[in-house]
Amino acid sequence: MYHVLSAHQFDRGQMDELFKTAEIMEFNARKGGLNLLGGKIMAALFFEPSTRTRFSFESAMMRLGGQVISTENAAQFSSAIKGETLEDSIRVISSYADVIVMRHNEVGAAMRAAKVATVPVINAGDGAGEHPTQALLDLYTIQKEIGRIDGVKVAMVGDLTYGRTVHSLAYLLAKYEGVTMYFVSPENCPVPEKVKAFLDEQGVVYFEETDLGRVAEVVDVLYMTRIQKERFPDEAEYTKAAGVYKIDAGVLELMKKQSIILHPLPRAGEISPEVDSDSRAAYFRQAKNGVYIRMALLAYCLEEGRVVRDTSALESLLK
Ligand code: CP
Repeated sequence: MYHVLSAHQFDRGQMDELFKTAEIMEFNARKGGLNLLGGKIMAALFFEPSTRTRFSFESAMMRLGGQVISTENAAQFSSAIKGETLEDSIRVISSYADVIVMRHNEVGAAMRAAKVATVPVINAGDGAGEHPTQALLDLYTIQKEIGRIDGVKVAMVGDLTYGRTVHSLAYLLAKYEGVTMYFVSPENCPVPEKVKAFLDEQGVVYFEETDLGRVAEVVDVLYMTRIQKERFPDEAEYTKAAGVYKIDAGVLELMKKQSIILHPLPRAGEISPEVDSDSRAAYFRQAKNGVYIRMALLAYCLEEGRVVRDTSALESLLK
């Protein structure tokens, strides 16, 4: 059984394989899908709001011939509201579905679920913890857009304390050679010590900066994030951080011609709409890549992943 709980669990070989699989999934999705998971059911159990992660997982499952059962507001519309523990819910849903994709407000919830589940659990975001499938699609996008991951210079900007996509992305990038990271955040939401300690351990070069303009001039990837109002302790702290950094035409002017702007989305004013028409604005292409990476992950988690991880078998599917 393959759970997807943390960016830490992936090594480079697995990521290379996954990205190759995602490419093949993209090819197949364009041709109308692939009946690889016919007869399988995916449960989407979301305790926090989502547009991209839930819909792209559902789309991925359907494009693979599988079916979906879903609750988009599990905190209210599942028996959690009646006091059922997460563990009991997961035990029961394990007998209704072949894989569980779960988003939860608590750090570590996906791990708790995996401990009692009898089917694979995929972490679709656990509070301010991690969002490993987002980070995998972020890296896949960098590889597609820039042509490599080794040696890239990546700036992560915005809410770095509570930004789970940032944590997972930093962990994954650390597995590549010669990567440099720049962390640019308002004073009250810096990158966590835990992430920095990991990067130190891995010998990764990183800088904490405050001047977005200076960083924008040197990076290959500008990874913008939303200041997440819902995670700040109070309105005053949120207000201190909101609107400090923004990508607009002025920042675009400073950026290299071959660089890209990514954002896990949703955005809340930190990327001006005037940026959207620039070819370097890759965030909508990034969101689309989520379907292909999640098709690959679903195949990887379910038993048929054995077929999908075998590239020659995959290639024969294309004929
Ligand atoms: N990137 C991301 O997790 O988006 P959603 O919250 O819409 O799923």
